[in-house]
Amino acid sequence: MKFAFTEEQLMIQQTARDFARTEITDAIERDETSEFPYEIVRKLGELGFLGMIAPVEYDGAGMDTLSYVLAMEEISKADASVGVIMSVNNSLVCWALNEYGTPEQKEKYLRPLARGQHNGKLYIGAFCLSEPNAGSDATAQTTTAVRDGNSWVLNGTKNWITNGTTSELYLVFAMTDKSKGAHGISAFLVERNTPGFEILKKEKKLGIRSSDTCSLGFTDCRIPLENLLGAEGEGFKIAMKTLDGGRIGIAAQALGIAAASLERSVKYAKERRSFGKLLIDHQAIQMKLADMATELEAARMLTYEAAWRKDQHLPHSAQSAIAKLYASKIAVKAALEAVQIHGGYGYVQEYEVERYLRDAKITEIYEGTSEVQRIVIARSLLRA
Ligand code: CAA
Repeated sequence: MKFAFTEEQLMIQQTARDFARTEITDAIERDETSEFPYEIVRKLGELGFLGMIAPVEYDGAGMDTLSYVLAMEEISKADASVGVIMSVNNSLVCWALNEYGTPEQKEKYLRPLARGQHNGKLYIGAFCLSEPNAGSDATAQTTTAVRDGNSWVLNGTKNWITNGTTSELYLVFAMTDKSKGAHGISAFLVERNTPGFEILKKEKKLGIRSSDTCSLGFTDCRIPLENLLGAEGEGFKIAMKTLDGGRIGIAAQALGIAAASLERSVKYAKERRSFGKLLIDHQAIQMKLADMATELEAARMLTYEAAWRKDQHLPHSAQSAIAKLYASKIAVKAALEAVQIHGGYGYVQEYEVERYLRDAKITEIYEGTSEVQRIVIARSLLRA
């Protein structure tokens, strides 16, 4: 067993760190205005970070999942909103297209998604599984797709869609045969300007406010037959397998928040004095910092293992669920401790840790709640 990264992986980590330091400098302001970070995302595309794990053949960076995890941690450390924008495009949309797309679909959609632009315009994607009444219970899809001549006709509503207002391509899951349950769900590629497709309410959120989240409506929305992704009825499997990888990205996002919480806390504890000594010299603070560091390292190991397994084409469903479950839990805890260590300063915007706390919470919810991760883990134990 080797515990060393390759030179290339370390270089990607350093590139992401440098980018975060020099380019992601307005997280507080965007958190306040909920403004989408267009310019940052555009530059991420130039860097190859929007198609990190997509093949070079389709203008991706052709990197491994471990490199992606290292980059995601660094980007999310600076701003978890930017992290999720990057994660959804990479692991939920590019990956699914590369795995299940036809050469024509890859040429038309994966290429611009991996580059992050098309004809000089930002080009990113969204993953549309959740519905008003189908969140954790993802097979309860009520959005329908009916074949009619040369088209599929989509009707329904999708909820909580990351990159929802800014995407050019939407990977949409819909029921094609309700009688078949999970096996009656299919996946479709919907372009932004398709008639009958509508961007509905943009959500106001507790955290990751600079990423856009919205509802989408489909009313007799006609898309060509060739925009079916994978086989008819294969949609639920596509969604689950894609989320197996996506959850590694969210675990890495959580690592970034936990790492930022620890780094800020150590810095503050080295500056702030109380009862005649620095905070860092108080054993009560040292205990907190030591626990934060230990849990962060443990979460990193779990996330690296899940990424490594994915890269080796080994089963990684349970490992990615374990990584996300644990990394999200310790991110919330680390952010909460960071607020506590900062005291009154932790409760105000300027010191950023209150944002970390608000941002961390979503990692326990999206791409499967912690309860869903436990279902996935427990089922793997039952199968063993
Ligand atoms: N890989 C391949 N196939 C899989 C699979 C996987 N990881 N997981 C399930 N399947 C297959 C099963 O084998 C089964 O097939 P068979 O009938 O042939 O045996 C079929 O799919 C149905 O599976 P289940 O019976 O396990 O389905 P379930 O209804 O019990 O649901 C669940 C399981 C794990 C709870 C699932 O519904 C789930 O993951 N829910 C959460 C959904 C989710 O993560 N949503 C997040 C939205 S996306 C998002 O948040 C993105 C964003 O914007 C950031």
